[in-house]
Amino acid sequence: MTPLLEARGVVKRFPGVVALSGVSFDLRAGELHALCGENGAGKSTLIKVLSGVHPAGSYEGELLVGGRPASFASVRAAERAGVAAICQELALVPEMSVAENLFLGDEPRRGPLIDYPSMRSAAKALLGRFSLSIDPDLPVRELGTGVKQLLEILKALRKESKVLILDEPTAALTASEAGRLMDILRDLRQRGMGLVYISHRLEEVFALADRVTVLRDGASVATLTAAEAGPETVIRHMVGRALTELFPRRAAHPGRPRLEFRSLSVAPAPGRPPFLKDVSLSVRAGEVVGLGGLMGAGRTELLMHLFGAWGVRVGGEVLLDGAPLPPGAPPERLAKGLALVSEDRRRFGLFLDQAVGFNLSLSSLSRLSGRALLDLAAEAEDNAAQFGSLRVKAPGLSARVGGLSGGNQQKVVLGRVLMTGPGVVLLDEPTRGVDVGAKVEIYEVINRLSADGKAVLLVSSELPELIGMSDRILMMREGRLTGEFGRGASQEDLLTAAMGK
Ligand SMILES: Nc1ncnc2c1ncn2[C@@H]1O[C@H](COP(=O)(O)OP(=O)(O)OP(=O)(O)O)[C@@H](O)[C@H]1O
Ligand SMILES: [Mg+2]
Repeated sequence: MTPLLEARGVVKRFPGVVALSGVSFDLRAGELHALCGENGAGKSTLIKVLSGVHPAGSYEGELLVGGRPASFASVRAAERAGVAAICQELALVPEMSVAENLFLGDEPRRGPLIDYPSMRSAAKALLGRFSLSIDPDLPVRELGTGVKQLLEILKALRKESKVLILDEPTAALTASEAGRLMDILRDLRQRGMGLVYISHRLEEVFALADRVTVLRDGASVATLTAAEAGPETVIRHMVGRALTELFPRRAAHPGRPRLEFRSLSVAPAPGRPPFLKDVSLSVRAGEVVGLGGLMGAGRTELLMHLFGAWGVRVGGEVLLDGAPLPPGAPPERLAKGLALVSEDRRRFGLFLDQAVGFNLSLSSLSRLSGRALLDLAAEAEDNAAQFGSLRVKAPGLSARVGGLSGGNQQKVVLGRVLMTGPGVVLLDEPTRGVDVGAKVEIYEVINRLSADGKAVLLVSSELPELIGMSDRILMMREGRLTGEFGRGASQEDLLTAAMGK
């Protein structure tokens, strides 16, 4: 059978980096083909070649669509040939409404004017297919990361493409949203569409994929039939070694409480009713407390409030190392030894045009500055230490962060926080988009933090991670805590508490 889409011997270079060094790949009709590989292996680069983001002429090698040579000058050209992609970096316009984003570039028209009523009802119908009850008139900037991701997918589906390429589509989704997406993908495959799927969640890959191609260091090292291969084989090809243990959490010996909430209630703005309601919890020295829940449960808001970046406190109190912590701003929080790794690395995390080193030391400047001047030698030394211990894959500390792969950007965010030497660490989805090898490294970092007597509050939507890494788990729903679990809780227990059944 002629493949829908094929790449032969693709070589893609960036200044100082060979991102792809002779990759071959083919996609059949009615197939879901997963791309696996460590952070920086070249997955996103390959799909950018396949979808015209990197135009013909900027790489070597051949593309074929339906067996015929193709060269895409742009994303539009690829879309006209039936190839649509959803990239890791979202492409929605925050100021425009949901409906306007869905139909951006080919709005229904009546004469020269955009036909808003029919655009709105078409948007409603499309949203209905995903059972999403979102107001089509809402500006996209008011939506959460997960819902934005679903909109991107709807945008591509609307174009009736033959090939749909998804780069980590579920990274920002909760378990139930991801499940819904997987059902839709199965349905599209049934109808003969070809799907390319990138995910670091191997359980998803194996629940969906017909074939798996593994990339390592820019080369395609194996194409396997999912049913025959199994996760261990894929991991071995990815990392070039066997991984012994996925969740290396060691027994905790919790000490004094470092962080305490007492009946905390927080409103989004002055005069509004509280969104976080009567939250009481404590995290001890050496303890990892997991915080679970569905999207919108209030986990991120809780962390952001604690960090001084969200909401107005309307009741209760927060204690840090036994002393009351009044409301305050992020720089003050950092100075008190409280650090946050944010889930949205683009908004709160990184300066993409700046170097890796700049981004790493950004939060530690006051510590590194001594009396007046920045101690450049100390900065360079700390930066090099973080760079090495997190194994950031980049040409060097002076490389631009925007040129790093998604997972390596996440490592830079984590490194910056660790450099501040915090006593209480708030982690919001710290392993989102990070490969299995690097995940285990991040888990080891969490273990080291707790062994050093730090208190860790871990928000994660991946239940196996929550269960594997937490000493205790608290579940949230609609701004309240709805359950507490010790080690050995099951995924079913947690989901029940998350959904309030
Ligand atoms: N625009 C760019 N400029 C410079 N280098 C780049 C650019 N895009 C990618 N690279 C480099 O190419 C290599 C492959 O990156 P790519 O984004 O394809 O990895 P990936 O497999 O998608 O990783 P991840 O799982 O972390 O998303 C990396 O070394 C990266 O730094
Ligand atoms: Mg990528």
